[in-house]
Amino acid sequence: MAQAKQTPGDLKLAAEAHVKYIQSLDTRKDELDYWLTEHLRLSGLYWGLTALHLLGRPDALPRQEVVDFVLSCQHENGGFGAAPDHDAHMLSTVSAVQILAMTDAFDELEARGKGKLQVGKYIANLQNQETGTFAGDEWGEEDTRFLYGAFNALSLLKLLSLVNVDKAVAHIAACANFDGGYGVGPGAESHSGQIFTCVAALSIVGRLDLVDKEKLGRWLSERQVPCGGLNGRPEKKEDVCYSWWVLSSLEMIERTHWIDRDALIAFILRCQDVEKGGISDRPGDMVDVWHTLFGITGLSLLGYPGLEMVDPVYCMPKRVMKKIIG
Ligand code: FPP
Ligand code: ZN
Repeated sequence: MAQAKQTPGDLKLAAEAHVKYIQSLDTRKDELDYWLTEHLRLSGLYWGLTALHLLGRPDALPRQEVVDFVLSCQHENGGFGAAPDHDAHMLSTVSAVQILAMTDAFDELEARGKGKLQVGKYIANLQNQETGTFAGDEWGEEDTRFLYGAFNALSLLKLLSLVNVDKAVAHIAACANFDGGYGVGPGAESHSGQIFTCVAALSIVGRLDLVDKEKLGRWLSERQVPCGGLNGRPEKKEDVCYSWWVLSSLEMIERTHWIDRDALIAFILRCQDVEKGGISDRPGDMVDVWHTLFGITGLSLLGYPGLEMVDPVYCMPKRVMKKIIG
C-alpha cells in the first residue's frame, strides 16, 4: 500500500537535528562559506547560541571556548569586531554583550576584558549628539538597527545613563509613518525589521505609549500571506525571519493573536531540513543559522511545545533576562 503523503499537520520540530546543525557550524573551516561569512562570526555565534538555549541545550557549545572567543574579539576602545582581526562595530559589540549575558560571563569581561564601562563608552560614542540616533561604526552610517542595539546592550550592562535617551526616543518618533510603522530613518518606508528595532527600543526605555498600536497591529497582521508565512513589507515574498520581526513586534503591542498561529507554525516547519538540521527562508531553500534562529524564536513566541520562551524585546531566553533585568 502506498504511504500517505505527509501533511503540514504531521510535521514536527526536528530539534535534535537543529542542535547538531548548529554544533557543526564551527567545524566547517574547509568550506568557502565559512570564510566568506567571517564578518558575521560573532553575530553568528549569538544566533546559534540563542537557538540552542531555546531548544533547551544551552551547553551544546563549550562555554569557556565561547567566552574566550568573544573576549578575543575585543579592542582597546571597548568595542568588539566580528572576528579577532576585524574592526569594532556596533552590531558585533551587541552580539558580544548578549553572548556574555547568556554565558553569565560579565565577571570575566571585567577581569580579563576591557570591562563593562569601556564597552558602554564605545557604544555611547556612536550616538549622534544632534539627531540622537546611532552609527554602526566610526564611519558613520546611521540606521535604527544601531539605536536598538545600543539600547539593548547598554540596558544589559546597566549603563543606559551614558547616552541621551530622550533624544534617541525623539528620533524614533520622527521615524513613525502614517501606517503606524517605522523605517530606517525619518521619511523611509515602513519595514518589519525596522519596526522591530524601533518598538523594542521604545519598550526598553518604557515609551511604548508613543506607538499607534491599532494601526501598527493592523499593518503587521496584514503581513501574513496565504501560505501562512509572513512578509516584511507589502508585495514581498514570505520569509521565515519575518516570523520573528513581525511577531515579536505584535507581542510587544499585545496583538500576537491577530496572526493565524497554526498556519504560521506549519509554514516554519516546512522550511526545516529535517535530516541535516537547520531552517531556511522558504521551503526547499538552503538553511542558514540566521533563519534557523528566527524560525525557532517565531515558534517560541507561538508557544510551540518543548521550546523555552523567548523575550520579544531582547531576542534572548526569558529565563536569562529574568536573571539580568529582574
Ligand atoms: C531584516 O533583515 C531585519 C532587519 C532590518 C532588522 C535587523 C536588526 C538587527 C540586526 C538588530 C539586532 C537584532 C537582534 C535580534 C538582537 P534582512 O532584510 O537583511 O533579512 P532577510 O534578507 O533575511 O530578509
Ligand atoms: Zn530572511
